[in-house]
Amino acid sequence: MYYPEDVIEEVRSRSDIVDIVSGYVKLQKKGSSYFGLCPFHNEKSPSFSVSPGKQMYYCFGCGAGGNVFTFLMEYENYTFSEALKTLADRAGVELPKEELSKEARAQADLKATLLEINKLAANYFYYQLKQPSGKQGYDYLTGRKLTDDTIRHFGLGYAARTGNGLYRYLRSKGYKDEMLKETGLVTIEERGSRDKFWNRVMFPIMDVNNRVIGFGGRVMGDGTPKYLNSPETKLFDKSRNLYGLNFARTSREKCLLLCEGYMDVIAMHQAGFTNAVASLGTALTSQHASLIKRYTDQVVLTYDSDGAGVAAALRAIPILKEVGISCRVLNMKPYKDPDEFIKNLGADVFRKRIAEAKNSFLFEIDVLKRNYDLEDPEQKTRFYNETARKLLEFPEALERDNYIQAVSREQMINYQDLKQLVNRLAARISPGTVPERQRPVSSREKRKEKEDGPRQSQRLLLTWLIENPELFDKIEGIITPEDFREELYHQVALMVFEGHHSGLLNPAQILDHFINDQDQYKEVAALFNASLNGQLNSDEQKKAFTETVIKVRKNSLDEASRTADITQLQEIIRAQSALKTLHISFD
Ligand code: UTP
Ligand code: MN
Repeated sequence: MYYPEDVIEEVRSRSDIVDIVSGYVKLQKKGSSYFGLCPFHNEKSPSFSVSPGKQMYYCFGCGAGGNVFTFLMEYENYTFSEALKTLADRAGVELPKEELSKEARAQADLKATLLEINKLAANYFYYQLKQPSGKQGYDYLTGRKLTDDTIRHFGLGYAARTGNGLYRYLRSKGYKDEMLKETGLVTIEERGSRDKFWNRVMFPIMDVNNRVIGFGGRVMGDGTPKYLNSPETKLFDKSRNLYGLNFARTSREKCLLLCEGYMDVIAMHQAGFTNAVASLGTALTSQHASLIKRYTDQVVLTYDSDGAGVAAALRAIPILKEVGISCRVLNMKPYKDPDEFIKNLGADVFRKRIAEAKNSFLFEIDVLKRNYDLEDPEQKTRFYNETARKLLEFPEALERDNYIQAVSREQMINYQDLKQLVNRLAARISPGTVPERQRPVSSREKRKEKEDGPRQSQRLLLTWLIENPELFDKIEGIITPEDFREELYHQVALMVFEGHHSGLLNPAQILDHFINDQDQYKEVAALFNASLNGQLNSDEQKKAFTETVIKVRKNSLDEASRTADITQLQEIIRAQSALKTLHISFD
């Protein structure tokens, strides 16, 4: 939903950055700023600064920076609206309500009610687990080495052997059959309604906002089905939710661990791997992948080591790749799944296995190899050919070569031979084309190239003006925002100049204009936080400032001359020669 700018500013101005960040990071005052350990990268000494004056944070270590909104967006992985809502709630600002159609409102009401009921049900199951009658369930969980803390953290529960306890409980809370039918938790029948889950330990499934949206229930011991899950409801869409993501999303790890089931997620979290998630009884979907991409672009697959687990990994790899997630595959041998592995070998060995997890492409080649009898020359040749064909998946010569090297090392194939094979195959598949393709220059590299020139001067000048507002006097009559020819800097300059002249320079507010483009956002945040070591004290610094002013102005005139008509050109030439004798006085 779209919110008007003044509402956003109202929320921002009522949310003090030091207050908000203090809720997450221990801060210490140093001079006019606060410092703490950066929550966005691992560090031992504090380089994360929060400026109450600018209402912004900036990390001198990793370059993360922004205002209250981006802090929540980055830390909690919220969207902008989510961050806005959270801060509005906290500050007591009422946001304008979306005008919903009657139908949409009914849907929203139904969802809200279903959430209420699920929450009550989770509480009910949890309560049952702690009753004497729930002993069998409690013993089962502790028998699987879950601690009381873990049971509480995941809200595990128990559904009794008999009857319709949950149904009666929910009826006593005033819910009608018609509504209860929508929850998938009970079967409504004329002869008497029954609970869907009985004689099972219960796993509430939460969405990223910690709201219970469904359940899984496991038999205690053998029996089928081993796990029974809530059916899909208005709330519960299996292909869009990952078990454990509500916790994993705030873990400070770079990657997510993706596994198959409830118990694996729980065992990993209990062992300290709070970045573990699982898709629930369904294969990984592209919606899952997109959901993961919101949080990370690195996944370590910790699927079961059996055939089904390997097949699941082979299916998941391309789905993750498709959305730009790179993945590695953990070697679980000799155990079946993370739960068993950790129980037997402990967290340290598991951590080592994570570090050693195999590049997904090399994993695929490994699995491929299993189809061939390498003692047989013909089959061995076919394996090599198939490997070469797979290597053609990499369109960029450099990357492909890296993989040719890695595969030849791992599979003990002669590097030159493999490379030749790949090139021959490429020529056969598309005759006449040279397989080596020039690597396209990424936009980031392009930017770096440009960086040395006028762009750098403009950025430097802007930073100076932001850091030392008294410098505005020095450039009066020389530089206007129009001289910032780089589009991004031009936009910022317009706002900075305007802010300076009205006496209301507000970095955090300016930053909000760039909230939709992450690259721009980071760059602007850096502008406002670059430390130039304060004042222009030495003569050298004064000289550097003057030179920068001249460069920016000169570049601006040069660019203007390209599109100027005769009269404008005369004007420009006059200005250019005036620039030659420009002197800025610092007295
Ligand atoms: P697993 O059988 O590997 O589960 O199935 P697990 O978590 O290791 O179970 P434990 O250790 O035996 O208790 C993986 C996942 O597949 C789904 C569940 O989500 C399970 O966690 N599943 C499995 C079902 O939905 N139904 C089933 O009958 C079995
Ligand atoms: Mn298991």
